[in-house]
Amino acid sequence: MPRCKTRLISRARFGVLEEQCLDPQRHNRPAFTSGVGELDEYLHRFAVQQSKKGIAVVRVLVDTDLPKTILGYYSLSAAQIDARTQQKLPRYPVPCFRLGRLAVHSTHQGLGLGRILMGCVVARCLEARKQVAAYALVVDAQGEEAKAFYAHYGFTPCQGNPMILYLPLGAN
Ligand SMILES: CC(C)(COP(=O)(O)OP(=O)(O)OC[C@H]1O[C@@H](n2cnc3c(N)ncnc32)[C@H](O)[C@@H]1OP(=O)(O)O)[C@@H](O)C(=O)NCCC(=O)NCCS
Repeated sequence: MPRCKTRLISRARFGVLEEQCLDPQRHNRPAFTSGVGELDEYLHRFAVQQSKKGIAVVRVLVDTDLPKTILGYYSLSAAQIDARTQQKLPRYPVPCFRLGRLAVHSTHQGLGLGRILMGCVVARCLEARKQVAAYALVVDAQGEEAKAFYAHYGFTPCQGNPMILYLPLGAN
C-alpha cells in the first residue's frame, strides 16, 4: 500500500485528530457504522482491496488517543466527466477527482467531523493537481441528504444528471 502523509488537526472534544491512510492492521473497520449500509460495507469489505489495487485511496480520521477507532473516512480516485453540457468546457471528457465515499461514524455525526473530512479531501485534491491536472472534484450523491450535504459545500449538480455534483477547483 502506498505511503501517505498524515495530517494533524486539533479539536478540543477529540484531542488530536489525525488523517491516516486506511491500514487493516491498525484500524478497526468492522466497528465502523455510519447508518448507511452501503458506505459501511464498502469500508468493511472493499476499501482495503481497492487501495491495494490502486482503484481508490482511502483515508480515515482517528483520534490519536484511540487510534484504532475510525471516526470517519473518505475514498478518492481519478475520474473524468462528460462536460459537454457545461458551458465554457471542452466537448471531450474533462479530468477530475472523484470523491467516491465519505462518511462519519454514527455516534460522532453533527460534531464537525464531516467538515474536517471535506477539508482534507479538498486539500488533497489541490495538492495532487499541482502534478496532474484536474478541473473539479466530483461526487455521485447517494440520495437527497447526501446531495444536500455536498450542496452545502458549494457542489453544483451536473446538467443532465443532478445526482452527480461537482466542485471546480479553481485556477492552478
Ligand atoms: C453526511 C455526513 C458525512 C456529515 O458529517 P457530519 O460530521 O455529521 O457533519 P458536520 O457536523 O461536519 O457538518 C458540517 C456542515 O455540514 C452541514 N450538514 C451536515 N449534514 C448535512 C446534510 N445532510 N445536508 C446539508 N448540510 C449538512 C452541517 O450543518 C454543517 O454546517 P456548518 O458547518 O455550516 O454548521 C455524516 O452525517 C454521515 O456520514 N452521514 C451518513 C453517510 C452519508 O449520508 N454520507 C453522505 C455522503 S455519501
